[in-house]
Amino acid sequence: MLFKNLNVVTSRGIKNWDILVENGKIRDMGRFSAKGTDFNGSMTIPSVIDMHVHCRDFSQDYKETIETATKAAISKGVTGIVEMPNTAPPVNNKEIFEKRRTLFKEKSYCDYGINFSVTEDLSFFNGYKFIKIFLTETTGKLLFKGDLDRLFSYKKPIAIHSDIKGIKECVKLSIKHGTKLHVCHVSTKDEVKFIKKYKNENITAEVTPHHLLLPKDSENVKPDLGEKEDREALWKELGKTIDVIASDHAPHTGEEKKRGAYGIPGIETFLPLTLDFAFRKKISFENLALLISENPSKIVSDKKGFEIGKDADFTVIEEKEWIVDSRKFCSKSKFSPFDGMNLKGIVKTVILRGKTVYDGKKIKKINCKEM
Ligand code: NCD
Ligand code: ZN
Ligand code: ZN
Ligand code: ZN
Repeated sequence: MLFKNLNVVTSRGIKNWDILVENGKIRDMGRFSAKGTDFNGSMTIPSVIDMHVHCRDFSQDYKETIETATKAAISKGVTGIVEMPNTAPPVNNKEIFEKRRTLFKEKSYCDYGINFSVTEDLSFFNGYKFIKIFLTETTGKLLFKGDLDRLFSYKKPIAIHSDIKGIKECVKLSIKHGTKLHVCHVSTKDEVKFIKKYKNENITAEVTPHHLLLPKDSENVKPDLGEKEDREALWKELGKTIDVIASDHAPHTGEEKKRGAYGIPGIETFLPLTLDFAFRKKISFENLALLISENPSKIVSDKKGFEIGKDADFTVIEEKEWIVDSRKFCSKSKFSPFDGMNLKGIVKTVILRGKTVYDGKKIKKINCKEM
């Protein structure tokens, strides 16, 4: 299969390439004389991954399911997600993990990673690729109560939900043990400053679009939205101290929100907002590639990324303006703080492992894989 004349967005610039795909993987890139599907120079982002998604499901399928969340992902150009374990029941033992895995295998529209939650008993977690710990309060009751030093001594990659106190502790333990650490949703200037000071290859940091954009107290999310100085510090370090933008898609019903639930849906505004940042020159396209494709791919999977031998995942986009309307979301959570916003850049076609899964109108389900 040959995809011709794509303008691929990479951290080294936008490159016009033909891409040869074999068995769903990138076989070669360059210029080929053979006939193929002509993309007429369309801008294309390879391997868009949202590293922070809550799909709910299980007993909370009234507010979101793996099916609706991953369909939502594909509809807005996200070909891979990493799911968080604060489900009900939580993903914190082998039995539930296997249930989750089966559900993803049957229902998912995009490729996925499944986080495993460790709260206390460290004996369970061997064999799991992604570990998530909660060091401060949020949705679900998964506060970590075990021995952090011991947890880090296993040298398994750990993602954390924390305030600055826990971030400091984990950064120090990551350095002590050489353990990979991913800091979820960094939200304050002090956190950015601290991480910047100690950052090394093992330490990665993430920010959400809402922490970049929304004023303090305008939405009930964890961590809290910051002040102007916090947002400025986050913007300044995009692509430097901050490696990844992720949505923290956290669906709830309207009723639950009224009762004070933390979190907002975000998977359907994740790529559109970050694309808009690039089209309106708030970040470069090189930085966009790093933040939503190359860095998350490197962190979560050896199968993903824009390289020969990796999965042929491509999101084809167009520089066109449209208006966010959450009533049209595939997610069950049909509200958004970005409603009514005029965004530049829409998703035209989505290709997952060489197959067209979205053509601008219809979403198609193929067998999806654990990343
Ligand atoms: C998330 C949720 O609802 O699952 N809430 C949120 O405010 N972001 C949990 C989390 O990531 O803290
Ligand atoms: Zn969190
Ligand atoms: Zn989180
Ligand atoms: Zn979250």
